[in-house]
Amino acid sequence: MTRLSTPLCVSLGLSVPIIQAPMAGGPSSQELVAACSAAGALGSFGFAYTQPEEMKKQSAWVRAKTGRPFGINLFTSAQPGPIGAAVQRGALDAVAGYYKELGLPAPGPVNAPYAPDLDAQLAAVEQIAPRVFTAHLGDLPERNLKKLKAGNILVGGSATCVAEARQLESLGFDFVIAQGGEAGGHRGSYLRDPYESLTGTLALVRLVVRAVRLPVVAAGGIMDGGGIAAALALGAQAAQLGTAFIPCPESGAPQVHKDLLLNEAEDNTRLTEKFSGKPARGLVNRFMREMKDAPQLAFPAQNSVTGKMRQAAAKAGIPDFIAMWAGQAAPLARALPAADLAAKLGDEALESIRNLKGMIHES
Ligand SMILES: Cc1cc2nc3c(=O)[nH]c(=O)nc-3n(C[C@H](O)[C@H](O)[C@H](O)COP(=O)(O)O)c2cc1C
Repeated sequence: MTRLSTPLCVSLGLSVPIIQAPMAGGPSSQELVAACSAAGALGSFGFAYTQPEEMKKQSAWVRAKTGRPFGINLFTSAQPGPIGAAVQRGALDAVAGYYKELGLPAPGPVNAPYAPDLDAQLAAVEQIAPRVFTAHLGDLPERNLKKLKAGNILVGGSATCVAEARQLESLGFDFVIAQGGEAGGHRGSYLRDPYESLTGTLALVRLVVRAVRLPVVAAGGIMDGGGIAAALALGAQAAQLGTAFIPCPESGAPQVHKDLLLNEAEDNTRLTEKFSGKPARGLVNRFMREMKDAPQLAFPAQNSVTGKMRQAAAKAGIPDFIAMWAGQAAPLARALPAADLAAKLGDEALESIRNLKGMIHES
């Protein structure tokens, strides 16, 4: 059997150079992770909003389905402290009309902590001991990094600029995910303003490959084998795909998100910080358009301001008020079971490389 492999694929035990992106908030369900890992890609949990006990439960579920490696991802940015009443009032008033429209009670003040405790989540990761851990929106203190690595966990982190990739390397990370501006979901930026770290995947992967000695994973706008082959040609050792896996039946994304993704003909994504407090790329909708200049709370507190609205809209199939994260190449999305998609992506990448080889003419 012919397949593509890289040193990173070998250390991760992958039979295709594909990482199913961690997608916090539902899409990277245990079913999706298990299906991707069993198919020879790296299934990854986005556990940013998940409590430690639930992290352990879902990881055990995946282990009962497949003995193949999987990854866990957390947001490693600091949380803001208590937020004053006047600031809260502005953010709550800005969304009150949408709550009313959905027949929901007006949203109340939000209180810290706004997300699960990171130390407790990291302790759960050490206990679960997945093959891979990745950090997003930040790096990691040295003591955490050492403990994870001592547990034979390969540790990666997102970088949206060269400085972030260099920082991960100097701290002792094992690999870097170069997240281009095309990428769906939150920008992983943590050293520069996310709006000033929108270098496209093509440029960023080359810059990062040249800047660090670590293996690089390319992320952002990669939806098919042609994109994966291009990422490998740029020097990446694997491609991390998020949007491509959202329409899979195993993904936990709301049905309306899946349906809209499959009906896109053009790049209709924009960046918004109004759902969570940090810029993230998603299919543009009414909330994003109307909230453009409205006040918001800092990440992740804004998640609590919009949470009940998003849940109710998802349940009712109303796309206007859901965060439908998606990358710029969303129109290439396909509705395939995850295992079929992973196999197809691997085959397409091989075919693309064979086609490129066919372009070589000696004279
Ligand atoms: C719905 C969604 C949720 C995401 N959540 C996370 C996350 O929890 N952690 C993370 O590191 N990246 C997250 N990302 C970003 C992905 O890791 C990756 O950079 C991105 O999906 C690549 O671009 P693409 O969507 O065009 O494939 C998310 C992306 C999407 C689409």
